Amino acid sequence: MKIKLRKQVIDILKVLKEKKSEYIASELAKELDIDYIVLMSAINDLKETNLGGFKEKEVFQISLNKEGELYLNKGLPERQLLDILLSNDLTEKNMEDLQGATSLDKKLFYIGISNIKKNGWGVESKAPGEHKLLLIKEVFPQTDVELFLKKFEKNDKIDYSDLSEDDLIQFNILNKRKLIKQTRKTQRSLFLTEKGKKTKLNEIEMLKQVSKITPEMLNSGSWMDYDLKPFDVTKPGPLLKAGKIHPMVNLINEIREIFISLGFTEIRGPIIESAFFNFDALFQPQDHPARELHDTFYLNNPKVSKLPEKDRVKAVKETHENGGTSGSLGWGYKWEESIAKKTLLRTHTTATTIRRLAQYYKNNEVPPIKVFSIDRVFRNEKVDKSHLAEFTQIEGIVIGEKVTLCDLIGVITEFYKKIGFEKVITRPGFFPYTEPSMEVSVFYDKLGEWLEMGGSGIFRPEVTYPWGIENPTRVLAWGLGLERLAMLKFGREDIRDLYINPIKWLRQESY
Ligand code: PHE
Repeated sequence: MKIKLRKQVIDILKVLKEKKSEYIASELAKELDIDYIVLMSAINDLKETNLGGFKEKEVFQISLNKEGELYLNKGLPERQLLDILLSNDLTEKNMEDLQGATSLDKKLFYIGISNIKKNGWGVESKAPGEHKLLLIKEVFPQTDVELFLKKFEKNDKIDYSDLSEDDLIQFNILNKRKLIKQTRKTQRSLFLTEKGKKTKLNEIEMLKQVSKITPEMLNSGSWMDYDLKPFDVTKPGPLLKAGKIHPMVNLINEIREIFISLGFTEIRGPIIESAFFNFDALFQPQDHPARELHDTFYLNNPKVSKLPEKDRVKAVKETHENGGTSGSLGWGYKWEESIAKKTLLRTHTTATTIRRLAQYYKNNEVPPIKVFSIDRVFRNEKVDKSHLAEFTQIEGIVIGEKVTLCDLIGVITEFYKKIGFEKVITRPGFFPYTEPSMEVSVFYDKLGEWLEMGGSGIFRPEVTYPWGIENPTRVLAWGLGLERLAMLKFGREDIRDLYINPIKWLRQESY
């Protein structure tokens, strides 16, 4: 039966046949410009067909260390010193001044002196009043150590077993001078068996090359008769179009994790909300322009919503009319329950955090309370590249004793830092339900601009007193835009892309 081999194996066999004697694997790999592993796998094929194999042996190698290499380039310290002494005519100088005059490093200088004496090039004379280095030779040929050092010019590593007896003496000197590094490695040498040497190339059949193995080949077992072409792992693979999580969902989850890591709990509230929680409980007067139809989607079905306990409704009513217990004068108008009962699509998730205040009152809870919500809100806006009629707010409150504006800035800044915006600025703003109020902006590196992200503030007493939250317990609050943040994070210029789902973007952004 004909021997079948892969093309690559045949190529290597050819080279080994030409070489005749044993060959060191790493050198052959270099010579053929192939990977060592590829070469060894080919040798394995030769081994299986009894044509060749490899032997292993441990080799000690020596090379120069950093200092040794330096001396290889610049000369040993004694040679460096000697050259300076001769070329600058310093042989008559007193030892005390000599080092400074040669401007050699102190350590190098003294190693030089000691070896000049060892080499018999000079002696130290110590007559009264003088201390000199006297050179006692006329010529200074290369020493044996220097000649040995030169061997490293050609190969940076030398096999220990290649050293002659004389070499060993010089090696020991350099080793004692701490200029040598020793390494051990396993060396593989390749050989052909008698069969390998005798077999002619035309007696060998080349396996057919294929680029993939099919199920049929696996079934029939014929895959063994094929040579799988090597893969080029640097080539890009086919695009994987697997199902993925939507980038917005990923972003929301990331935000969730940040608030949870800061000790917050997530809350959710109804999308169909009462005007009471959306506006009245936020001390927005019933004739406030923001309540008007062009901003708010009012609903016909259900037409009226349920209000909380009578006494709480009364507390809100009195706050509007005369300030109630909050210490404020209120708005001074007659508050209508029917307006508060209107149903609408919530215009902000602040309605949800107010519901949390109501729960706090009902359950007689104690501070601190830290909650957040990431949820959908609705406004009657004309949709364009920077506006949507339904969008998402990242809302949150902290109910705490003696909490301050600094705490509020701290939470907001920390949040944006964690999501990837280092620079956050808060500026005075206005909301009917907070005092003081702040607008929040982040710095967007790509545009070099500050972009407004949302609002925040400390709820006014008119908002918190109806729920039993009285000074010095205060409520820090914020409502930030999710889509704005998403546009910056994903580099989208059209806000609608986030929900129209351009497939190309989803493929590159999702994971
Ligand atoms: N509700 C405000 C908005 O929708 C944001 C806000 C929330 C401001 C909480 C202050 C406090 O723009």
